[in-house]
Amino acid sequence: MISKLGVLVSGSGSNLQSIINSIKRGEIMGASIKVVISNKPDAYALERAKKENIPTEYIDSKPYKGRREEYDQLLIGKLLEYGVTPENGLVIMAGYLRIISSMFIKKYSKRIINIHPSLLPAFTGLEAQRQALEYGVKITGCTVHFADEGLDTGPIIIQTVVPVHDKDTVESLRARILDEEHRIYPEAIRLLVDGKYEIEGRKVKFVNHE
Ligand code: GRF
Repeated sequence: MISKLGVLVSGSGSNLQSIINSIKRGEIMGASIKVVISNKPDAYALERAKKENIPTEYIDSKPYKGRREEYDQLLIGKLLEYGVTPENGLVIMAGYLRIISSMFIKKYSKRIINIHPSLLPAFTGLEAQRQALEYGVKITGCTVHFADEGLDTGPIIIQTVVPVHDKDTVESLRARILDEEHRIYPEAIRLLVDGKYEIEGRKVKFVNHE
């Protein structure tokens, strides 16, 4: 069962805030955030965590260019220090701008999740909103998925659709998608913490609550 959440961040942390708010509203019962870890010293997400009295850690990734596993070993060490284990933990990537190693993915198998601002499998990687605008799609969205060894390719937990308007800019589209991210990320975490799900290959199936 999942009870301890570790959140990885690099930026503003608006998704982190939406998860904190959801926990405070009592929507995610039986789990709490044990630590927020950033690879950037100035990530505003760290301030958000501190305001909520959640422990924070900064692990500088600069000296670890091309040494992904070594960096991830440090990350794992921190997660374990705060009790976020592969058995009881969920690692939440919330605007975490680093690719994680397969060693980390294997160790926390099916216990690492990410949110991506597109309807996967469309528009993986960076600047998904710009990719959607340039392609001319009429709808896009956001996706919460398990991390696997590909880029934004793991089994999908929740997706939602967001319309693209003719007058959209990258910024206006990003804002409309973010509103939905803030809704579905806490919802996905709630479903996983409730534990009534099965993963069959790529498919994540939720079992009805009795
Ligand atoms: C979001 O758009 C998320 O989909 C992407 O990174 C952004 C993070 O925003 N993975 P924030 O730091 O949660 O505000």
